[in-house]
Amino acid sequence: MITQNTSSTMETGIDKISFYTAQYYIDMKTLADVRGVDRDKYYVGIGQERMSVAPPDEDVITLAASAAKPLLEGINPSDIELLLFATETGIDQSKAAGIYVHRLLGLSHRCRVVELKQACYSCTAGLQMARSLLAAHPDKKALIIASDVARYELDSPGEATQGCAAIAMLVSANPRIMAIDEESGYYTEDVMDFWRPNYRDEALVDGKFSTKQYIATLEHTWKQYQEQTGRSFGDFKHFCYHVPFSKMAEKAHQRLARANNVKLTPELFEQQIGRSLIYNRITGNSYTASLYVGLTSLLDSTEEDLGNQRIGLFSYGSGCVAEFFSGVVIPGYKDHLLSSNHLNILDNRAELTYQQYEDIYHFGVPKDGGDHSFPLYKTGPYRLAGIKDHKRLYETVS
Ligand code: CAA
Repeated sequence: MITQNTSSTMETGIDKISFYTAQYYIDMKTLADVRGVDRDKYYVGIGQERMSVAPPDEDVITLAASAAKPLLEGINPSDIELLLFATETGIDQSKAAGIYVHRLLGLSHRCRVVELKQACYSCTAGLQMARSLLAAHPDKKALIIASDVARYELDSPGEATQGCAAIAMLVSANPRIMAIDEESGYYTEDVMDFWRPNYRDEALVDGKFSTKQYIATLEHTWKQYQEQTGRSFGDFKHFCYHVPFSKMAEKAHQRLARANNVKLTPELFEQQIGRSLIYNRITGNSYTASLYVGLTSLLDSTEEDLGNQRIGLFSYGSGCVAEFFSGVVIPGYKDHLLSSNHLNILDNRAELTYQQYEDIYHFGVPKDGGDHSFPLYKTGPYRLAGIKDHKRLYETVS
């Protein structure tokens, strides 16, 4: 029997989205005072107020599993046949980080698990790849996770743009939060704007060049997107950007408006991107997760009903790959948001002194493969308990 392929008309996209960040932060004023920098450089010039700090017993696995856990409520976990884990804070050169998460969440063995890497872009690749799978198997679901800890050298220009967070998205056919549009502009070019060789714990970055690349690729991908769709800047009420620091997204948006001959009043500017930056401003850069932290922030904090509105989305990963795409918010989406979880996590973080921040920074993870137990800090439902025989040992806290 010949079955009709309905994939071209079926909607696929984000069915549920969950955010998690570490339970500690440093206020950027504290960092500014120690560095002898005017506080407004960080608060206004960079646009960051707080930076999430992952304690020694929290890593990309525990952040990811803590983000993903609430998504499993009310679904059959064996419907998840694909888990894609996007990160540039890999803990192993060989084994995929998602396999630890797969076990912690108790997912079915009939599941493909892979780790994806392309700097901050790879979660977007995961989302698009998952949609292809769902077009062929609309009864299945994919779990797409982005989890990162952004780390630069102490007292370097990048230090103020550290942070950490994870996003977990259930991706399905007939999604309840956002249907992703088919059209998309994307761009790759071999550049060295930000990278981390295998032998280093901290990223290397050509900071000013990286900001120029970000803007240039936004212009390339928007142009392609526009040619494909015929949509104009005015067709969007809201945009979400990759947010290495919130001023970067603001500058990108101003640039896009200018390229489209749109004069942004402060009110229009605030309406179009303001709410998408609330979470990023107080967590810092979360690399692969940051665009989706921005989307979560927009959805959680906008009182007005965004149902049927098209949101512009820009993903940038240094090195570099960029993509401009869009999605339409599904009517009734508010019933499926996890906003109170997210606010609870953000409101209950503990503030660190500068010395505590530096102690955590220097703790690192021992590299001798010996037996280590990690001190007990505040974490979510999972923690990295220790290392034994070169193996990471995770445990469930509650
Ligand atoms: N009050 C208000 N503003 C102030 C100020 C004050 N007292 N002092 C300085 N400023 C302003 C500056 O005028 C400047 O504004 P403009 O950008 O509008 O000129 C802003 O604060 C930043 O100051 P500097 O340019 O002097 O900052 P810096 O050179 O010390 O560091 C940076 C900036 C290069 C971006 C650095 O933070 C960095 O290297 N970050 C990491 C790389 C990065 O995030 N790149 C982004 C694109 S790449 C990407 O997106 C991928 C990714 O996630 C890494």
